[in-house]
Amino acid sequence: MKKVLAVVLASMMVLSLAACGGGDKKETEAPKETPKATEAAKETQAATEAAKETAEKATEAAPAANGEGLKIGVCIYKFDDNFMTLYRQELQKYLEETYGAEVTVVDGKGDQAEQTNQIDNFISQGVDVLILNLVQASATETVAKTCADAGIPAVFINREPDATELERWESEGVAATYVGADARQSGTFQGEIILDTPNKGDINGDGKVSYIMLIGDPENVDAQYRTEFSVKALTDAGMEVEELFAQRGDWDQAKGQELTANALAQFGDQIEVVFANNDAMALGAIEAIEAEDRKMNEDIYLVGVDALDEATAAIADGRMTGTVLNDHMGQSHTAADVAIKMANGEKVDTKYTVDYVKVTE
Ligand code: BGC
Repeated sequence: MKKVLAVVLASMMVLSLAACGGGDKKETEAPKETPKATEAAKETQAATEAAKETAEKATEAAPAANGEGLKIGVCIYKFDDNFMTLYRQELQKYLEETYGAEVTVVDGKGDQAEQTNQIDNFISQGVDVLILNLVQASATETVAKTCADAGIPAVFINREPDATELERWESEGVAATYVGADARQSGTFQGEIILDTPNKGDINGDGKVSYIMLIGDPENVDAQYRTEFSVKALTDAGMEVEELFAQRGDWDQAKGQELTANALAQFGDQIEVVFANNDAMALGAIEAIEAEDRKMNEDIYLVGVDALDEATAAIADGRMTGTVLNDHMGQSHTAADVAIKMANGEKVDTKYTVDYVKVTE
């Protein structure tokens, strides 16, 4: 629809421009030029009509491209996750408003067995495509095979499967794809934000950056890569580092608060940098840091990932050093666009990534 409208609007603009051009010529040029101008206008009109026809035909040939009537099942690892809440709400809204699809979103409650049942239910209901944020990325191969056996295309989101699984999809022509972001980039950006501070994270000037790490879910590559690449950015820049504490906080704000409080009780002023694998845990860390009267950006730094509204507000208020935008809009829209294409039988790539963006004051 949108495309047709755009073509029609463009055609109208071309026609009115041609008309204006003709008018100018009439005033400034000799009458013998007029037939040429008329000819040109006629050609433009013919071309415009041909373009309109082609656009109309294209829309007729692919009526489902607008997603009208397509049934889409969406499985989210758990609803109680700040980032995935923004993501799933945008995904549903975009699929319904842009494509007119019928969308059902279910909560895996952090339980792979429960989510597997939900996937089986969607398959028996005969959905046209599945969008899957698995509880365990390690279940990808089994789930991809179940979907392929049922002839239902699968779009895996948020938790990147093993590279070997993506290669299998490619070589065996499996109708599956992954849409996400490269977590290495988010880790690197976190480290670079610390390197951009006046003392590069070495607040006490003892020649090393002493940090604590709030890990998301160790099974999740986002957590693994952010943990690794945030520190790597520092060491690649020639900084010495000292890890004082690293524990799993399962992406959760309350756990982020608890872990940071424990680490502060144990290591106190030695802690110069808090790396949180996501903003939810960073928001928890803020509470613990403020409870100890530590001065943000003076005697401690804190970085997260996601750019939740609460985190960007905290950065603006000087209560957090920085974060990295995990683009839930870009990712959910890409996942939706790719899902619609697959539901219409189009072949797509095995991987789509959306860039992260550094966010500081
Ligand atoms: C986000 C986290 C979220 C996790 C869920 C990550 O990409 O940064 O906030 O909890 O995905 O899998």
